[in-house]
Amino acid sequence: MPETITITDDRTGKQVTVPITNGVFPASAVRELDPSLFIYDPAYMQTAACRSSITYLDGDNGILRYRGYPIEQLAEKSTFLEVAYLLLNGDLPNAEQLKQWTLDVTHHTFVHENMRKRFLDGFHYDAHPMGMFVSSMAALGTFYPEAKNVLDKGSRDQQILRLIAKTPTIAAMCHRFSVGLPFVYPDNDISFPANFLNMMWKIGDYEVDPRLERAMDVLFILHADHEQNCGTTSMRVVGSSQADPYSAAAAAASALYGPLHGGANEAVVRMLADIGSIENVPAFIEDVKSGKAGSRLMGFGHRVYKNYDPRARIIKEVAYGVFEVTGKNPLLDIALKLEEAALNDDYFKSRKLYPNVDFYSGLIYQAMGFPAEMFTVLFAIPRTVGWLAHWQEMLTDKEQKISRPRQWYTGVDERDYVPLGSR
Ligand code: SDX
Repeated sequence: MPETITITDDRTGKQVTVPITNGVFPASAVRELDPSLFIYDPAYMQTAACRSSITYLDGDNGILRYRGYPIEQLAEKSTFLEVAYLLLNGDLPNAEQLKQWTLDVTHHTFVHENMRKRFLDGFHYDAHPMGMFVSSMAALGTFYPEAKNVLDKGSRDQQILRLIAKTPTIAAMCHRFSVGLPFVYPDNDISFPANFLNMMWKIGDYEVDPRLERAMDVLFILHADHEQNCGTTSMRVVGSSQADPYSAAAAAASALYGPLHGGANEAVVRMLADIGSIENVPAFIEDVKSGKAGSRLMGFGHRVYKNYDPRARIIKEVAYGVFEVTGKNPLLDIALKLEEAALNDDYFKSRKLYPNVDFYSGLIYQAMGFPAEMFTVLFAIPRTVGWLAHWQEMLTDKEQKISRPRQWYTGVDERDYVPLGSR
């Protein structure tokens, strides 16, 4: 059977046949038929916006691979910095490459003192840490005017290194500011996840628990990239105008902030707290099904996964390991009851709604002591790697240019100006 598609313009009888490759066919077929024709596709639900070799998703079978490696294997055997190298460079590093990469990241973790004194200190005392993080991404770029040379690989690599290394520092600074604690400087003698936990929690003789250090590393791996999600699409669109990567990352972080996207982990924990007990789960499920205002099952459903999100399965296992250290999060029982009820209810089954990455992650973060306002910041730290991998792929893709879609105009036709007195 030919892997092609033929489109016929019935107005002219003109036909175009184009190949279908990996489930995709080029929209240039439409341009060939009639350049004045546009495909209407709200929210890009049926659109492949780019070619990419970074991450592969199979939504029906719940498959996620970074550069071909199954997420399950990376979560079990790799580290976040190794996965960051993989996503950015296309293959796992050898021992020498990993050593150099780790050294490079470790020695870029400090931020300019004015980021603290002149910028972060300017926020209101109760500013939301994610709002501070989003702003800090763009502010960070003002220290590196050379970052505008986005077509220069050397400059791109330098900014990539800075952003990956500095996001944990900025994230921890946002938290420490929010709780009125002095900042903790990066410690270059400990691992990437340990350094982040140390900057978050160090007071006095704080020691990072290696089990929480490993859990943090796995959570960073699981959140590092996810193909053309809303935040990464924002990174690509803003980056396509050749804006600097800090401004593009601020746009991506802004998209992630939304409750339908990365803000869902915070929304899940608030939803579970509002439900309050497993006895209230059936009534809540009914509210969701009836579409009662504000009753959405946060942490469930996904544009791509119509099966269990493979990350949710792994996170659930990580949760039990963390709870051995921190004690079980009392909201876990409500979450498990909610998952069981939803997975056996036709409303959710018929819509192929399963737990996604955000359903259990918040329970772990809360058990580790992170305030709910920090959950999306915890998502943004590792996702910065994915944003940057896609940013550099977009800039080096000869088929890409500034993103500028068209529209289906449904407004009024031409009309003459009406003087104020006649309206
Ligand atoms: C992330 O894209 C990515 O890869 C994102 C992400 C990543 O790693 O970058 O995976 C991270 O953002 C995960 C998703 C986190 N968001 C949430 O958990 C918020 C709750 N979920 C939804 O709002 C929703 O499922 C979305 C936004 C995730 C997906 O929305 P879609 O694909 O646009 O689906 P839809 O809103 O059109 O829903 C289809 C149907 C609708 O019912 P009907 O109109 O057909 O009757 O399913 C219903 C929706 O009402 N539905 C839900 C639901 N999600 C969808 N009903 C109840 N609870 C939900 N959570």
